[in-house]
Amino acid sequence: MKSYAVKNISLSSEGEKKIYWAEKHMPVLALIRKNFKKTKPFENVTIGACLHVTKETAVLVSTLKSAGAEIYLSASNPLSTQDEVAAALAGRGIHVFAWRGMSKEEYYRAIGHVVKAEPMLTMDDGADLTACIHGLYYKEYAREDVKIVAQVVGKKSIGDIVENIVGGTEETTTGVLRLKAMAREGTLLYPIIAVNDSYTKFLFDNRHGTGQSALDGIIRATNMLIAGKTVVVAGYGWVGRGIALRAKGLGANVVVVEVNPIRALEALYDGFYVTNMITASKIGDLFITATGNRSVIRKEHFLKMKNGAILANAGHFNVEIDLEDLENISTSKKEIKTNVTEYTLKNGKKIYLLCEGRLVNLAAAEGHPPEVMDMSFTNQALALLYLLKKNRKLKKKVYRLPLPIDRKIAELKLKSLNVKIEKLTKDQREYLKSWKLGT
Ligand code: NAI
Repeated sequence: MKSYAVKNISLSSEGEKKIYWAEKHMPVLALIRKNFKKTKPFENVTIGACLHVTKETAVLVSTLKSAGAEIYLSASNPLSTQDEVAAALAGRGIHVFAWRGMSKEEYYRAIGHVVKAEPMLTMDDGADLTACIHGLYYKEYAREDVKIVAQVVGKKSIGDIVENIVGGTEETTTGVLRLKAMAREGTLLYPIIAVNDSYTKFLFDNRHGTGQSALDGIIRATNMLIAGKTVVVAGYGWVGRGIALRAKGLGANVVVVEVNPIRALEALYDGFYVTNMITASKIGDLFITATGNRSVIRKEHFLKMKNGAILANAGHFNVEIDLEDLENISTSKKEIKTNVTEYTLKNGKKIYLLCEGRLVNLAAAEGHPPEVMDMSFTNQALALLYLLKKNRKLKKKVYRLPLPIDRKIAELKLKSLNVKIEKLTKDQREYLKSWKLGT
């Protein structure tokens, strides 16, 4: 029986070429795959995933399939699916439900198919899959997402579905925040490994991956010259600092807007102009949000912006730029080119919104480079294995992957890059442990 839904299955050979390229740049995951192929740790395990359907994700799910898993995959954003990759995955026997430009209803129906498959392990990017499972379990049918997922799941018992889940993983900061909120409330139904919180994830993926790919997306969408522009970056977390650094490297004058005084101070000492959004809105040519928060740029800011200002978001959800406010103060809007919508404000100025306020690096470019996803997705694969090996002994909490695994991934990455690092001598190890030797 056909168990996938993609835009066009005949795109699969194009998708295969992209996956091949990603595979060649993900050497650490290749080592894991080699081992998984032999040991088959996921034999008879169904994995339900809600991830950006990119060529790098294809390498991850193919790795898990070669380890014996049955994979159900839905998109974690309506605009991030690479249709040719989705087609290739369907050809590889992955149950993939994803295409670029899904409606809200289609997006949640796809998640419904993943839930209905009764996964033993879940993999999330943004926690939509986990939130739907929890909403269903707690009978929150007033929620639109839960209503749609419930229709697809049909008569299957959500109690049995939850009982079958050993644990889940979460890829991104926003998802981890949502899951930690569930754990705090005492409503989390199974353990989660916050893959985002591994050093080999956030220090590289969030910072260098999004730093480069967000600007890549903006440039692909607009072909604008970054040099000489005033680029306002909202949020100086791991994503924001990557974007600020790369924008500076391209010759922009970077302005940072933060709410956390420590991070604002870091930005200042890293050489950026730090101010609040109302001041920044008067001087910015390009605004990039990366906060994980809502309404970071809103009515009062749009009204102060220069004619021609460009708005992009790199945070997980499309809530950072307040789209309702933007609609309300506009007299018209039109898509003037792919990924660029022109809003004409009541004050006569024009503002350009990229990718409907959805994450610009995935919607207008290809997401993070495979070299970076190599580490993020090795964390994912090893986190799933860890959950399985713990055999239901973990509490219903949000965990990090143990530090030795995190360090091992860094070691393997360095090895793949032929980089040698220094080793502590016995004497140095002892010195670092002792307190007796002073001045
Ligand atoms: P983070 O927690 O390290 O940084 C967020 C920063 O935003 C914090 O310093 C916080 O103080 C600041 N902030 C919060 N509200 C603000 C406001 N109103 N104005 C200005 N600053 C504000 O989080 P991280 O890891 O940098 O992630 C940020 C977002 O990017 C999340 O939604 C995350 O899920 C997403 N993300 C997106 C990726 C992509 O591929 N586009 C990749 C990785 C993460």
